Amino acid sequence: MSLAHSYDPPPAAAPRQAHVIVVGNQKGGAGKSTVAMHIIVALMRMGRRTGALDLDVRQRSLTRYIENRARWISSRGVKLPAPQIIELRESAQRSLDLAEQEEEVAFRSALRRLSETCDFIVIDSPGGDSYLARTAHACADTLITPLNDSFVDFDLLGDIDQDNAEIVRPSIYSEMVWESRKKKAQGQRTPIDWVVLRNRTSTSKIEAKNKQKVGEALKTLSNRIGFRMAPGLSERVIYRELFPQGLTLLDLDADGGEGEMRMTHLAARQELRDLFITLKLPMLEGEPLKF
Ligand SMILES: Nc1ncnc2c1ncn2[C@@H]1O[C@H](COP(=O)(O)OP(=O)(O)OP(=O)(O)O)[C@@H](O)[C@H]1O
Ligand SMILES: [Mg+2]
Repeated sequence: MSLAHSYDPPPAAAPRQAHVIVVGNQKGGAGKSTVAMHIIVALMRMGRRTGALDLDVRQRSLTRYIENRARWISSRGVKLPAPQIIELRESAQRSLDLAEQEEEVAFRSALRRLSETCDFIVIDSPGGDSYLARTAHACADTLITPLNDSFVDFDLLGDIDQDNAEIVRPSIYSEMVWESRKKKAQGQRTPIDWVVLRNRTSTSKIEAKNKQKVGEALKTLSNRIGFRMAPGLSERVIYRELFPQGLTLLDLDADGGEGEMRMTHLAARQELRDLFITLKLPMLEGEPLKF
């Protein structure tokens, strides 16, 4: 029997209620895993059952983040919300078709498993183009694309004419989101809400002009290719330093929580609140924020 015949097609997607949030873009290091972890903790703070799916089979940043958190919880005996996580493995099949089929089956099965127990599923998509990333994008109810706040990363979304800052054409990634939107509309008939998030924005005055220019170009592009803009997250050391403990900004409390809360943390927390409000997630609208 040939290998091709041993493949069972993926079962039709089961009806599911969990809201799927994909954090994705094709550029490395834009803050996908960091944003995914903060959204997960925010949702859990809001009392929502939240599952995580790590598609970055090589780096496993989100998985490691959540493993660090579990270790911290058990070693300190503290009460912190911890999400259920499933990490997917890269298929070892040599044939591309078989590898893609195998990955698709694993992905759908992970989504179904998490849907059984979760209100929200947050998917950390890897940098670069991969079959898993494309499959995940086509399942997104909400797609969050963090973008390093500079023109260097801007071409992730579209090419712009350097002379007049006009948009010449959408990028490969924008085309991919467009394709995902078409696929999703055919299957589930619900739209993908695409939200672009400027990350690591500078607070220095010297950068202010550039920041404004990037903002204007993004606004033009958002109308052209159909995404919403979220208020940005600033460049802050706190986003980097809590990874080893598996903690986030939202785990720091002024009243003796997991760490000392400084003024800059309060400002950062407000940025995360603003992001959360912009996302307008279902089942949460109008509810007061609990972080
Ligand atoms: N707002 C921020 N301020 C400071 N550092 C940040 C911020 N956001 C992310 N970082 C840091 O930038 C690095 C890259 O972030 P992260 O790993 O979340 O990106 P990624 O998009 O998931 O990368 P990859 O494509 O490699 O998976 C990490 O060291 C992270 O701690
Ligand atoms: Mg990552």
